[in-house]
Amino acid sequence: MTDDAYAALDGLGAAPLWRFYGNLFPAQPRSRAVPYRWSWRDLRPHLLHFSETLSLHEAERRVLMLVNPGLTDPPATVNTLYAGLQIILPGETAQAHRHTSNAFRFVLEGEGAHTTVNGEPVRMAPGDLLLTPGWHWHDHTHQGDAPMIWLDALDYPMVNALEAGFYEQYHQRLQPLTRTADLGSRLFLHGRLTPAWIEPAGPNSPVTRYPWAETARALDAIADDATGSEVDGIALEYTDPFTGGPVMPTIGCRIHRLRPGFDGAGRRHTASTIVNVVRGEGATIVDGVRLEWSEHDTFAIPGWATYRHVNASASQDAVLFSYSDEPVMRSLGLYRTEPGDPGA
Ligand SMILES: [Fe+2]
Repeated sequence: MTDDAYAALDGLGAAPLWRFYGNLFPAQPRSRAVPYRWSWRDLRPHLLHFSETLSLHEAERRVLMLVNPGLTDPPATVNTLYAGLQIILPGETAQAHRHTSNAFRFVLEGEGAHTTVNGEPVRMAPGDLLLTPGWHWHDHTHQGDAPMIWLDALDYPMVNALEAGFYEQYHQRLQPLTRTADLGSRLFLHGRLTPAWIEPAGPNSPVTRYPWAETARALDAIADDATGSEVDGIALEYTDPFTGGPVMPTIGCRIHRLRPGFDGAGRRHTASTIVNVVRGEGATIVDGVRLEWSEHDTFAIPGWATYRHVNASASQDAVLFSYSDEPVMRSLGLYRTEPGDPGA
């Protein structure tokens, strides 16, 4: 065929497959996301600055997006998932809304705020994980006496790619409180004893808040008698009490304890992962890039990137909170994993 023959196809809505083969069917995934670390120490002053100069009536949510240098348009943190740092001041409220994207908060700093989720006020304290599953109304109110900062997580890059994004504002700034405080946690956070009269109401965990005290108790209970994973340390999955599976259909959340001196084995998987450092200092090597981290830093491990974690301390644990799209990969039969060496 001549070039004219190719040009003639342009106006007909057709293209020669043989010119696209390598891109459409790569031998293995090539993420546009890059390994990257966002510094808490560097970003926190900017958050505080905007909290002083921008009201929550001007910005529906006061959030700094953590934008992966490889994923700027539309902005995302890894291919399918997003992370942002949100700040709210004492006395402030954030407008009630809902969206089909699943979301959660992981609290980094401050106390005294609550998120209302479908009429249930849910308390927030450092280390707590709060779920706002897709199409659940949510707003925030802060009645404490110091700024509160949390990590916001959403699956909007995936939902928008699927062209399933819907959004709606509530007709008032805040929802009425129609359930007692922390009901979703009190009903379900009793280990293996699950309320028998409650039917699952959706594809997400009914637990509204996984309090840090429970998470810490679970980590401590596995004191020194389990070696855990050679890749991810003592890694515990936050679960849906009805299914034992991930907390939301698109996002799985884990807490990891890396023992002093932990020098992990390398691995890769198709799931894209975002990690927030709860405490400790160390490094994660991702495809030859060394990401040094300390408390409250966030970092991205793109899908199919080989990584390994190192706890830099010989005397202190490091604790990492991670979330990934593994539930999607598994449910679609696309989850693959293999050991590897990230180099560096
Ligand atoms: Fe939201």
